[in-house]
Amino acid sequence: MIDLSPKMQDAINLQISYESYASNFYLALAYWCDDQALEGCKKFFMRQSEEERMHMLKLYDYMSESGVHPVTPAVPQPPVTYSGIQAAFQKVFEQERSVTLSIHNLLKLAQDENDYNTQHFLQWYVDEQREEEAVIRTILDRIKVIGEGGQSLYYIDKEVDKINIQVIAAEAAEKSK
Ligand code: FEO
Repeated sequence: MIDLSPKMQDAINLQISYESYASNFYLALAYWCDDQALEGCKKFFMRQSEEERMHMLKLYDYMSESGVHPVTPAVPQPPVTYSGIQAAFQKVFEQERSVTLSIHNLLKLAQDENDYNTQHFLQWYVDEQREEEAVIRTILDRIKVIGEGGQSLYYIDKEVDKINIQVIAAEAAEKSK
């Protein structure tokens, strides 16, 4: 059985709350996109919301395997509205950066405590965050190239839809390995 220190248990519970918030954050964003008739962006954020829930559940399972009862967190209200699609993706980028930072802090704690199981377990999250940040950076770059006025929104939405399909295909390929 995995032996988690009380400090590590608290830190993982905190990470559970971040992943839970991330899932709701993306869900709220998906329905903001729905209001703007941005169907491609809505699909992107709905998938992302599901992924964040999966990130959270992996932490639940890890705690449970260690004989520790995970704490289901109260989750703060995510933003309801945005000034535009670029601002929304900028906020997404900041959100992912803060999760990356918390994963790195968690890994540092595992290293300080010589907790090799948790270090190994967290490597998946380190890779996941790197990939998520790269996708969001790509979208932000494309938004800058396309511009944000008038018909641009139509093309941004198409581009995000295309990227979403690529992410789904890459995940399916990864799972089939
Ligand atoms: Fe699980 Fe993207 O944070």
